[in-house]
Amino acid sequence: MTMLPARSFAQETMRTRPIPGTNETLPVIGLGADQIFIQTPEEDKNLPKSIIQAMTDMGGRVIDTPAFFGANELGQTFSGKPILGELITEMGLQEKLFLTGKITVKGKEEGIAHLEKTEQYANKRPMDLLLVHNMLEMNNHWPTLKAWKDSGRVRYIGTSLTRQKTYEGLEKFMKEEKPDFILTGYSMAHPQAAERVLPLALDMGIAVIGAEPFKAVVDGAYFNVVAGKQLPEWASEFDCETWAQFSLKYILSNPAMTCVLTETSRLHHAKDNLMAGYGRLPDETTRQRMSEHFRSL
Ligand SMILES: NC(=O)c1ccc[n+]([C@@H]2O[C@H](COP(=O)([O-])OP(=O)(O)OC[C@H]3O[C@@H](n4cnc5c(N)ncnc54)[C@H](OP(=O)(O)O)[C@@H]3O)[C@@H](O)[C@H]2O)c1
Repeated sequence: MTMLPARSFAQETMRTRPIPGTNETLPVIGLGADQIFIQTPEEDKNLPKSIIQAMTDMGGRVIDTPAFFGANELGQTFSGKPILGELITEMGLQEKLFLTGKITVKGKEEGIAHLEKTEQYANKRPMDLLLVHNMLEMNNHWPTLKAWKDSGRVRYIGTSLTRQKTYEGLEKFMKEEKPDFILTGYSMAHPQAAERVLPLALDMGIAVIGAEPFKAVVDGAYFNVVAGKQLPEWASEFDCETWAQFSLKYILSNPAMTCVLTETSRLHHAKDNLMAGYGRLPDETTRQRMSEHFRSL
């Protein structure tokens, strides 16, 4: 059954953006690599499935797969087999979903083994998008990704880089290698990528996946800043009903953004976030107003 948003917008499906230079589009809100996709949560065994189902019902299809082994972005390691691959196989979504994976380990051979595990655990070949995590050992891993793309083992390749004051290394890499995708952190609290990286991506035709939409120093701290504050009335001018949508609609209204990843372990938060893919987006004047308002809180 299709679960349409409670409010009706002119647009009945989630907004999509093209992957530059292709005929393929991506829905603008995706799911991040949350802990619930690694291990079944004891308190609600059906939760991971319900969240994936809500995403597909509401028109989404992008999931960032957890770092299947080796360290993730927080330096945590997981030795078990993440449940995500089994879930999406069970749900028959293997082909429909756009799955991303990342090399998060050092060493060329270790990187290749990591990709093979990712592919095996995600149960998808070719994978849709593989990234080098935070530009780790690009000399080792980028040639591997290029070889995998040349042989048809992955459809798109690129790198991630988040939490930087400047992104000079990423800019240089984009200019030299023209990856298909980059993944970077971008939000009102961390707007640095909008200075040069996002305009460059737009200019060069590189797709951008946004991460850390709710980060202000630590995960989810955006919500500490807005806690107890009333959403401004003018947010309704761009069909925004919650603080989560306020951040996501700010991010998505940057024309370089292709898709934003949101991480949550709660079904109602997932639906809230997915709703940001519906309705109007703020214009440039409103974006400035949003940013000033956020800074004043
Ligand atoms: N270098 C990289 O490759 C890299 C780096 C960082 C992130 N990423 C990717 O980007 C994804 C998202 O970024 P992130 O990890 O920084 O997380 P995030 O989405 O910015 O923040 C997650 C936090 O926000 C809370 N939250 C989510 N939706 C909410 C809502 N509607 N209302 C209230 N609270 C809400 C979550 O708590 P609840 O669980 O309680 O909802 C959680 O504490 C990651 O999962 C990962 O896939 C990649």
